[in-house]
Amino acid sequence: MSAAPSYQARPEVPFADLLDLRGRTAVVTGGAEGIGFAIARRFAEAGARVVVGDLQPGRTGELAAAGHEVRHVPTDVTAQGELDGLLDAAVAAHGRVDVFVNNAGIYPLRAVEEIDGAFWDRMFAVNCKAMFFGAQAASRRMKAQGEGGAIVNLSSICGHKPMPNHCAYDASKGAVLAMTRNLALAPAPHGIRVNSVSPGLTATPGNLKPELFRQLQASGVLEHIPLRRQAEPAEIANTVLFLASPMASYVTGTDLLVDGGWLLHGI
Ligand SMILES: NC(=O)c1ccc[n+]([C@@H]2O[C@H](COP(=O)([O-])OP(=O)(O)OC[C@H]3O[C@@H](n4cnc5c(N)ncnc54)[C@H](O)[C@@H]3O)[C@@H](O)[C@H]2O)c1
Repeated sequence: MSAAPSYQARPEVPFADLLDLRGRTAVVTGGAEGIGFAIARRFAEAGARVVVGDLQPGRTGELAAAGHEVRHVPTDVTAQGELDGLLDAAVAAHGRVDVFVNNAGIYPLRAVEEIDGAFWDRMFAVNCKAMFFGAQAASRRMKAQGEGGAIVNLSSICGHKPMPNHCAYDASKGAVLAMTRNLALAPAPHGIRVNSVSPGLTATPGNLKPELFRQLQASGVLEHIPLRRQAEPAEIANTVLFLASPMASYVTGTDLLVDGGWLLHGI
């Protein structure tokens, strides 16, 4: 049932509970490494039971070994059935899904003249189509539970400004921004919030791949970033935790840029 409009004041959440995810279940795609792993870790530290949907288990075992309730469910997000299976596994294990993070993404480089249909389709299958169907599936379950929820999509600074050899990636991340604004509308009366985070340059296994790293160094990229450094994955995870938590209870349909000021610099 969607909530009727109400002018009633809402009880204030006590300060100590603003980032508290105890009793909540959070599902993170691509949470085995990089930014997704940092998000899974922050959520676990905030008390959530975390389910990581990733092609590989990666570092998830570290969190279980540290005593957190974190499990890995083998998932290829481009297979819609596997996304549904991921959510089913979370509900089977914990009875509910309160937070869903569409983090899994790829960013291979290719010059505009060399992009072919297969390259373009793969980029959009992982970065865009999978995010849509992930959000759709999560939103359905949250609506059925009737207690609201939060969905966070990973866009990128590349959704805001162009990068050389990133045309297909830039387009896929721009689509995530537009999709997030639209996806926020329908479930809002059910208390389900949908937002995105746009990281700037972040030190993860993905962007430390030699080809990309060499290109970044050659471009002198840190000269263009006002904070003069790249982000740590935990700094992106902190923002995702904010959006997923009661701290952001009146925030929906928006994007938070976490880029050290990079967008302020001219192209
Ligand atoms: N690292 C950056 O500088 C940066 C900047 C802006 C945005 N982002 C975005 O943040 C997100 C995470 O990036 P990252 O740098 O941590 O990536 P990463 O390559 O370091 O890790 C990605 C994780 O996603 C998983 N994954 C990849 N394809 C998958 C699939 N089809 N199904 C399930 N899991 C899959 C991988 O196994 C891996 O564990 C992406 O959406 C990326 O576009 C990253």
